[in-house]
Amino acid sequence: MPAVIVLGAQWGDEGKGKATDQLGQHTDLVVKFNGGNNAGHTVVIDGEKYALHLLPAGILAEGVTPIIGNGVVVDLDVLFEELAEITERGVDCSRLRISSNAHIIPPYNRLMDQANERARGNNLIGTTGRGIGPTYADKMNRIGLRIQDLFHPEELRAKVEAALAPKNTIFEAVDIPALDPAEVSDHLLSFADRIKPMLCDVSLVVNDALDRGDTVLFEGGQATMLDIDHGTYPFVTSSNCTAGGAITGSGVGPCNIERVLGVAKAYLTRVGSGPFPTELDPNEGVGKFLLETGHEYGVTTGRKRRCGWYDAVVVKYAAQINGLTDLAITKLDVLTGLDTIKVCTAYDCDGVEYDTVPEHRAVFDHAKPKYIEVPGWQEDITDCRSFDELPQAAQDYIKLIEDLSGVKVSIVAVGPDREQTINRFWK
Ligand code: GDP
Ligand code: IMO
Ligand code: MG
Repeated sequence: MPAVIVLGAQWGDEGKGKATDQLGQHTDLVVKFNGGNNAGHTVVIDGEKYALHLLPAGILAEGVTPIIGNGVVVDLDVLFEELAEITERGVDCSRLRISSNAHIIPPYNRLMDQANERARGNNLIGTTGRGIGPTYADKMNRIGLRIQDLFHPEELRAKVEAALAPKNTIFEAVDIPALDPAEVSDHLLSFADRIKPMLCDVSLVVNDALDRGDTVLFEGGQATMLDIDHGTYPFVTSSNCTAGGAITGSGVGPCNIERVLGVAKAYLTRVGSGPFPTELDPNEGVGKFLLETGHEYGVTTGRKRRCGWYDAVVVKYAAQINGLTDLAITKLDVLTGLDTIKVCTAYDCDGVEYDTVPEHRAVFDHAKPKYIEVPGWQEDITDCRSFDELPQAAQDYIKLIEDLSGVKVSIVAVGPDREQTINRFWK
């Protein structure tokens, strides 16, 4: 597998961190290509839990060179805090490389995130508040700060001043204290010496590795339905979380990519606002069961995740947008104990049936799920390590997912630990 993309096929938190960590054990380079510390990836190794936000989850796999690509937005405070934290726990971070072209999340964009949400009133996105959207907006608006700007202090100071002036006016209007551009610049510049040894031309490094025949894994944050172009806009994040993002977010050509692995939960969750046709009531029945059994609380913000039945229309759409070659289905163990399981196969939108995600927001907003119902299983599956060991109903459920998406399910996860995985077809 010379080059593989691993990305979310739903609304995030599918277990990409665990999948990346696992595949990373057979990989030379792991390249994070989008997003920032809005991500929250939990990886459990021998019962020990690691929560990663900005650093690639591949950093935990021994021997891997973890890389932060140009498509990522970097909060320098978070970078060094996270590095200190996991270095203290014995993880070797010395190989970490970061693109000089990656954009910096300046402190004022954390505040802009709050200001933007306040301005939306009741129509909140429910962002993670980490400054992600405003930083990508600055990048597109060509007023962003790149890591390489840290080595040109006077230019950086001028850029901060120009970007901050209109934002300070907005802060004052929404009762957020204005920031001093000199203080912001001093703070950012204080990271220059520490970050310098980690910087590299990511495109060159990754292309050289591919030429040598090394294996490269591109790690996506967030997910297909949160993609700025293909997700449920405006209730999305501000980057391309889909396969194309791996190309632009790291500087490699598309023909290098051999496989695209979509990670999907055996049910569905979403954090923040926006449409979610199969959503269940969190206070009763299966909705409450999934929330509690799946421990569906965000790694980044601690918010309760909204839970619902598996939506095969969404995953089929992810297969289309990303050209998925494989699926990893996670958290199958969470469904254990249900008498029957529902799967959404189409939507009824004001009397019209859709078997794909409707392009128009106003139509998707009215989507009512059409379900099929299949038998559940009662046996504990957390110790299963081969597909044949799964109860027949669980095997049938995986095969149903495969049929409905047209993509083979190569990996099945049956628990949070690195070891709790069934490798069916992944070589
Ligand atoms: P990511 O953002 O896609 O990396 O996913 P998160 O780490 O935010 O959320 C997935 C959660 O599910 C984490 O707490 C994982 O430890 C956990 N997890 C991953 N795979 C499995 C699984 O197969 N079964 C169970 N029970 N938990 C899992
Ligand atoms: P991982 O990588 C789930 C959601 C937020 C909000 C929207 C925009 O762990 O799967 P942002 O702060 O990005 O501007 O917020 O996107 N969101 C996520 N939801 N998992 C994530 O990351 C997310 N990153 C952002 O809840 O609805
Ligand atoms: Mg997460």
